[in-house]
Amino acid sequence: MNQTDPLMRRPAFHFTPQRNWMNDPNGLVYDRGLWHLYYQYNPEGPDWGNMSWGHATSTDLQHWTEHPVALPHREGEQIFSGSIVASASDVGPLLTAYYTSAYDDGHQAQSRANSTDGGFTWETDPSNPILDRNTSAFRDPKVIRYADAGGELRWIMLAVEADDRQVLFYSSTDLHTWEYQSAFGPLGVDGVVWECPDLVALPVDGDPDTIRWVLLISTNPVGEDADPEGSSMSYLIGDFDGTTFTADSSELTRLDHGRDFYAGVTFDNAPAGEKVMMAWMSNWSYAREIPSAPWRGAMSLPRRLSLRTIGGSPRLIQQPPKFIQEQLLAADPAARMSLAQPIHMTLSGHSLMELQWDPNTTGQLRLTLQGDAESEVVIEHSPATGALRVTRQGAAVQAVHAAFPSTSTVALDVLAPVRLLLSLDGPLLELFINDGEATAANLVLLGSGPVTARFAAELPGHVSVLLQDVRESETPARPSLPGRSPVRL
Ligand code: FRU
Repeated sequence: MNQTDPLMRRPAFHFTPQRNWMNDPNGLVYDRGLWHLYYQYNPEGPDWGNMSWGHATSTDLQHWTEHPVALPHREGEQIFSGSIVASASDVGPLLTAYYTSAYDDGHQAQSRANSTDGGFTWETDPSNPILDRNTSAFRDPKVIRYADAGGELRWIMLAVEADDRQVLFYSSTDLHTWEYQSAFGPLGVDGVVWECPDLVALPVDGDPDTIRWVLLISTNPVGEDADPEGSSMSYLIGDFDGTTFTADSSELTRLDHGRDFYAGVTFDNAPAGEKVMMAWMSNWSYAREIPSAPWRGAMSLPRRLSLRTIGGSPRLIQQPPKFIQEQLLAADPAARMSLAQPIHMTLSGHSLMELQWDPNTTGQLRLTLQGDAESEVVIEHSPATGALRVTRQGAAVQAVHAAFPSTSTVALDVLAPVRLLLSLDGPLLELFINDGEATAANLVLLGSGPVTARFAAELPGHVSVLLQDVRESETPARPSLPGRSPVRL
């Protein structure tokens, strides 16, 4: 199908490919003023297959430019997910991509490609695959930097044995030779595969002397009675000594409470050491049934990661990118409204909304979003339970797939004030709750026109609302000076 589907208006401040199928973000790297996003892509059609790495770049994480396919599939081999690192070599700045070669004979192994022109053209390594266990679900290499106590730098590669629910760790000093270090897992529920791991070092409460390591894992239910909730991301906080990851607890913590946040990984080499994560906003249980328009698949907003102590232990905090904050700051302060009774507002559908309320004075609060499609989104907060629920429902939602109608629940502190940042960009709804303490990303089908937001509170307490329709701004030019130079290894 090549027409625009009225249910799938194209997002304005998220990346979608011009056409065809997209899933996981791959090879996220910042290099000399450009954020590079590669992604699982079928250059030939709207369904999963012919997997290749598509490519887009941005100077500000808001506006994206799509480029020709970077790593095309070839005879007998698809190019599955992986990562890129920026380094310096004798020939100048170097980008090295690690990806999974998924061979037609069913075996999966890790391969490598180099780019010396800033990520636009790639040469695959003649000795590929460079890491092969002769197994069928060894995939998704993510290479990170590690400095030991003496300041010595090394590269660490994580890759999953997906069916075994294990992350394997390898180490290298030259990006060529990889030595096996250890395995982490299995743990958590079975009946899932582990995919797209990442390991992120973050200071606790901004203190550079208290670094903890966060292992990110995407899990996807498989088998006959696969959980209809489908794909989701989780994390574990722990320590990493360059060889072994040790988790504080054996319980996976849900990373995002919506249905559509999967395969999230972070950018290598981001300025100021920031950890910025992007994910695919879909779910394997129905991704293939989402109307194509003629694109199928969108990336989430990039999220800035940190750790904050809450109730005595560190929690992963996910905040929206700076341009979102800037858009809200640019909103006319007079536009901040205080509502004490049911009210309607009209949104363009490419909008941000900041809401604050005290459940002690509002009681139950409900916000309903409705456009010109036969469906609605209901966001409801219950003071008695602290539950914030996001429900997508209606005929258009049911028509997609049996698993598509859904309610996602975020558990908040009972009776505590709530601060909610809502980002709606066409079919992409992302909630950031209490300054990033919890998030929920969901695909929604609100149609192609404006969206009505209806508020209703149980009691006459006030709700503060700031609405900002995201304006199209000029794409900022790429800085003429090279950005932070890559670490030389
Ligand atoms: C995750 C995933 C990866 C794999 C890729 C294939 O969504 O299944 O494990 O590399 O997608 O497209």
